[in-house]
Amino acid sequence: MTLSKDKNWWRQAVIYQIYPRSFADSNGDGIGDLKGVTSRVDYLASLGLDAVWLSPFFPSALADGGYDVDDYRDVDPKLGTLADFDEMIAALHGKGIRVFVDIVPNHSSDRHVWFQEALASEPGSAARNRYIFRDGKGVNGDEPPSDWPSHFAPRAWTRITNPDGTPGQWYCHLFAPEQPDFNWDNPEVHEDFKKTLRFWSDRGVDGFRIDVAHALKKDLSEPLRSKPAIVDFDNPLSGDDPIFDRNDVHQIYREWREVFDEYDPPRVAVAEAYVRAERRVLYAKPDELGQAFNFDLLESPWDADSYRGHIDFNVKLAAEVGSSSTWVLSNHDKVRHATRFGLPQGADRNAWLLSENAGGVLDMELGTKRARAASLLQLALPGASYVYQGEELGLHEVWDIPLDEIQDPQWERNLHKYKGRDGCRVPLPWTSTGSSFGFGSGGSHLPQPAWFAEYAVDVESADASSTLEMYRAAVAARKQLLTGEDLSWGSLDGGQVIDFDRGNGWRSITNFGSEPITLPAGEVVVVSAPLVDGKLDSDATAWVVVR
Ligand code: NOJ
Ligand code: CA
Repeated sequence: MTLSKDKNWWRQAVIYQIYPRSFADSNGDGIGDLKGVTSRVDYLASLGLDAVWLSPFFPSALADGGYDVDDYRDVDPKLGTLADFDEMIAALHGKGIRVFVDIVPNHSSDRHVWFQEALASEPGSAARNRYIFRDGKGVNGDEPPSDWPSHFAPRAWTRITNPDGTPGQWYCHLFAPEQPDFNWDNPEVHEDFKKTLRFWSDRGVDGFRIDVAHALKKDLSEPLRSKPAIVDFDNPLSGDDPIFDRNDVHQIYREWREVFDEYDPPRVAVAEAYVRAERRVLYAKPDELGQAFNFDLLESPWDADSYRGHIDFNVKLAAEVGSSSTWVLSNHDKVRHATRFGLPQGADRNAWLLSENAGGVLDMELGTKRARAASLLQLALPGASYVYQGEELGLHEVWDIPLDEIQDPQWERNLHKYKGRDGCRVPLPWTSTGSSFGFGSGGSHLPQPAWFAEYAVDVESADASSTLEMYRAAVAARKQLLTGEDLSWGSLDGGQVIDFDRGNGWRSITNFGSEPITLPAGEVVVVSAPLVDGKLDSDATAWVVVR
């Protein structure tokens, strides 16, 4: 199959996120790898995907699941080689599936050759200036240079020890201490990332997911300004926060756009920018990254008004900047949506994960039913749909990983406040029996629960009513039905019912209420739950073609 040169291929693509360490293991060492991905290309093709996005597979000590990169232009030997990468991309392209890789430009790992060089160099040297080093405050320099907070630790500064054993300068890290932040005021950093973008583009990569796109630029003028806490979306709209979502970060993406446009079709990108929606779309402008993740559904409770509001707002907002919207229900950072919808409304998910009776509180059946309804609704929305590995199986969060097997730095670094994100990163079940449920011939780097058997790919492939078969049918129907990027509200829309029309007679109707509802006359092409006496069940979605 040859890939089209259409430069707009991404606008309404279905893009599947692979967390490589947990997708498929080809050599039985318990860690998923690139050959594992290649071995599952037929499965990926059976989902009808336009693209896959691979979370980091670069050399890494895994202080943060690979988001601590030692070398941006290589493959972690635990996951394979560059030759394996070439083979994988050729196999995917051969099936018409494009490939995104994850770029982590805010920070490297502390094992990156530049950071090692910085540690061995003098304060004020060129090597130190690639990162953010400062003298400490206080008499002996033993207080951090500012009050900046970190996502994974109480503060964003760690003091180094000089080669002679004396205490040295401090460096900035908005995440774990093993993830030192680059100094994006340094042109050398700009040049190196452009080199990385070209390196992967030359190897045939079609797109990039940009990690923490909003944090690269900091206000480094002295004295460093205060930023005492990180609260979700706490960025002001002025663009002048000391560390997040600064106006000057956009210059970086304008430079990157020039690199993307060197290719035919131009390379594409999607920003992970956890900022207010009005600011988020700025990253998605056509002269910058082109797309930005919209996490509104991922953060939304199962509620019709909330869903309707997010849909209406985001479709309009994306159009205003010339992008298409993006939709996400799950990813490698959040409790899986089947589980979120099966917990009591408003439950504190961190507290739930740490509770003794987590399994008893979760209503798996209800969660799965709503997750299917939400996924079918998502796949009908205009714009790009991002699907996280395992969500096509309706997989739930694994809530009972023993604390001594937790890998996520959130657990240790945040002083055991959050159990972290491992529960959505457990290796996929491919078969209902066998070692690690067919993930590989050996074990699994995170423990898989017994209930995974019911969600295995072989079980669901053999069951026409499974979540997997619903995804396959939905993505195939979407391809047939998709015309423009328009959405208009249908006649049933209002109250507990969401009904929208995508043109071509294609309506997606979701019943959030407790009683079944009558569907409009037409052909029911996909449903998330069996009809009840010909009616759409509660917590269910149907696609109806009305002509
Ligand atoms: C966002 C990624 O999705 C997350 O997994 C990671 O921990 C942080 N960025 C830091 O890179
Ligand atoms: Ca392996």
